[in-house]
Amino acid sequence: MFNKIFNSPEYFIEGWYWALPSHHLKKGQVKPVTLMGRDLAIFRGQDSSVTAVDAYCPHMGAHLAEGKVEGNALRCFFHNWKFDVDGTCIEVPCMGEALPVKINTWQTAEKYGMIWVWTGKTAPPERLPLPFVPELEHEECDSVLAKRFIKNCHPNVVMVNAIDAHHFNTVHNFPVKIVFEKNEIQNAITFSNITRGGENSLFLKLIRPFYKKAVTYNMCYWYGSTGVVTVGPDFLHFHIMFTLRLLEGGKTEGQTILITKKRAGILGWIFNRIILALTNAVGNYFAKGDTKIFQTIKFDLKTPTKADNSIMQFIHHAEKQKPRVWSTWEKSI
Ligand code: FES
Ligand SMILES: [Fe+2]
Repeated sequence: MFNKIFNSPEYFIEGWYWALPSHHLKKGQVKPVTLMGRDLAIFRGQDSSVTAVDAYCPHMGAHLAEGKVEGNALRCFFHNWKFDVDGTCIEVPCMGEALPVKINTWQTAEKYGMIWVWTGKTAPPERLPLPFVPELEHEECDSVLAKRFIKNCHPNVVMVNAIDAHHFNTVHNFPVKIVFEKNEIQNAITFSNITRGGENSLFLKLIRPFYKKAVTYNMCYWYGSTGVVTVGPDFLHFHIMFTLRLLEGGKTEGQTILITKKRAGILGWIFNRIILALTNAVGNYFAKGDTKIFQTIKFDLKTPTKADNSIMQFIHHAEKQKPRVWSTWEKSI
């Protein structure tokens, strides 16, 4: 099967990607981040705003993360040129004035305790939002950053695991016949289970007394690289975000984020700690079986069956997205 974007080590989908946890960047700090092969310096000004710039100083190429933050601007360590939040040079000390040079800046945002970077040259339109949990779109959320991980295969391949209906039976011993219904909106695609089953599953037996309808299993993908799993009985849904980025050679670096809606008061806070701990346990239950597969797989869906239908739909979805070239972030031709 030939795909240009899906499972390609050379391209990634233009979108929002996680850069670093918000709490790792305090006011006045600057950090180096390599995102899809491009080196960035990300800093937080005294007004708390976060700015992402290309890493190398337009004077002589020093890494700007060696520099320091002054107010809301960044000063290069090497010869002390200073740049504002638009990347404009505002001071060259040895000349006593600025020079008309600029560094590239990239749009940033913060959500779920993470700093995100938009990888397109121009700011994203409103219809291309930060990844979010569909059910909690209009809610204030509580979140915890859980596991950070590396996988030896492409982010797209890690992603489709969550809609690989057949492997739930074989790997996770979760004998539910899952048939997915898909829903596609531009850069997002969701898959929801529409069947019941799993009478013999221990997991389902445990939660069965608490629900009347079938268990919800919903997967929403953003930009082909961030997936949100929503799972649970009607009265209590768990939300786990897996946000992935492409490393050199088609490998994956990922971060798990546990999310629930904010609940008021100290009891709400305690309740949320319990919910998030349970969410972690649910995530671990599904994460443990596949680990060795991701170490050695050479993904090639040569013989798709009916059960692989959702994977095929995900591949088609990925192929419709806007590709950027790994490392240069140029548009592909
Ligand atoms: S390299 Fe940055 S000021 Fe000279
Ligand atoms: Fe799995």
